Amino acid sequence: MSAPVLTGPSAELDDLSVWPASTARLPGGNLSVGGVSLTDVAERFDTPAYVLDEGEVRARCRTYRAVFPDADVLYAAKAFLSRAMVRWIDEEGLGLDACSAGELELAVTAGFPAARIVLHGNAKSPRDIETALRLGVGRIVVDSPSEIARLAAQVGSGGRQKVMVRVVPGVSAGGHEKIRTGTDGQKFGLSLTDGSAQHAIARVLGQPQLELTGLHCHIGSQITDVKPYLVAVRRMVGLMARIKESHGVTFPELDMGGGHGVAYRAGESALDLTALARRLNGKLSASCAAAGLPVPRLVIEPGRAVAAPAGVAVYRVLAVKPTGSTMFVAVDGGMSDNPRPALYGARYAPRLIGRSTTAEPVATTVVGRHCEAGDILAADVLLPGDVRPGDLLAVPVSGAYQLSMASDYNLVGRPPVVAVHDGSARLLVRRETQEDFRRRDIGA
Ligand code: LLP
Repeated sequence: MSAPVLTGPSAELDDLSVWPASTARLPGGNLSVGGVSLTDVAERFDTPAYVLDEGEVRARCRTYRAVFPDADVLYAAKAFLSRAMVRWIDEEGLGLDACSAGELELAVTAGFPAARIVLHGNAKSPRDIETALRLGVGRIVVDSPSEIARLAAQVGSGGRQKVMVRVVPGVSAGGHEKIRTGTDGQKFGLSLTDGSAQHAIARVLGQPQLELTGLHCHIGSQITDVKPYLVAVRRMVGLMARIKESHGVTFPELDMGGGHGVAYRAGESALDLTALARRLNGKLSASCAAAGLPVPRLVIEPGRAVAAPAGVAVYRVLAVKPTGSTMFVAVDGGMSDNPRPALYGARYAPRLIGRSTTAEPVATTVVGRHCEAGDILAADVLLPGDVRPGDLLAVPVSGAYQLSMASDYNLVGRPPVVAVHDGSARLLVRRETQEDFRRRDIGA
């Protein structure tokens, strides 16, 4: 049985277009995701809780494989990582982009083949490199001149490690200044314009312990337009042509990074992956043909577009405060589980669940419980005017860069992650407890 679809002034509140495809309306204003009622999740696992729709993650991986059949698709683990996630990614045939010893160890101990992992990082610690070499990762991406000799030395005289070089192609793209990485003047990669990319490539080619398999770039995150990728790929091929001229080498792969944008609210656009695949492959082939280069195998590294739309955050309302100009609704989580609004001005669309209401929608600001005025989850969103303490709010598109960036601010404790699939729910990551805090704090 499903509840009727709302029409009229409340219709905007009832739009499910950015929710996981499995989302269904239940009676009493409730929703199910992966066949599991969200109010049941709240009851069984308490709130706040993060729900991850396994079917949505797998479907998104399959879409990538179908749309990019000839590319290596690496899931960017920084978006969200857990052992189950590692297994799903592996089973769906994707590789993994990791950027620390911690992510590497978690993935490999959960059974992920190290050869399908790429290690990134603008500042890799000796432990990161030691772990990568010990586990046998497929590629290490060189991000600064100072790590070349260090990496070669750690590989040792008998060994040979496949590497790529991260290039800054001079393309500005991305949903916020803090997540634009394609231009000079930020910390990632080696510049095309000042020659440091060319210089680093020459040095890598001179190290017998390092095998340079290709170039890498990652121009930014939450990009919704194909064009910046086309400019970037043209510049990368231009550099490959110059390397061929000066060193006589061609590379078998080209890694164009991730950054594929998603819609967080109804009506927003996501990056069109089919268009990206068609135009990126087209531009790559044409640029290579013009430069007399063989077409390298394309590598892409989506994080957000795999994980974000599969996650739903479920909070309970703790307080409601009408003020002169703003209606504040405060929930039992906040910037400790989702720092994105505070960091990037990210906008979300929370929804009341578990109760039907005919109350008119009113402009509401959903805030967290943390001791900071900037702890805002969703400013100026429409919610029913009768939201009250005890109600549940659910926030879609919460699967990426929320829990992976969560903190222990105010010792509230990080929420659990609950996988939902085919009508059943299971705990993937348990809630952080007072005992966890006590165990780490070993001073007298
Ligand atoms: N590859 C590299 C080298 C990256 O640095 C990243 C993300 C990705 C791939 C995946 O990008 P995605 O497809 O997820 O956009 N915390 C920010 C996003 C930071 C992205 C960092 N690098 C946010 O919450 O918006």
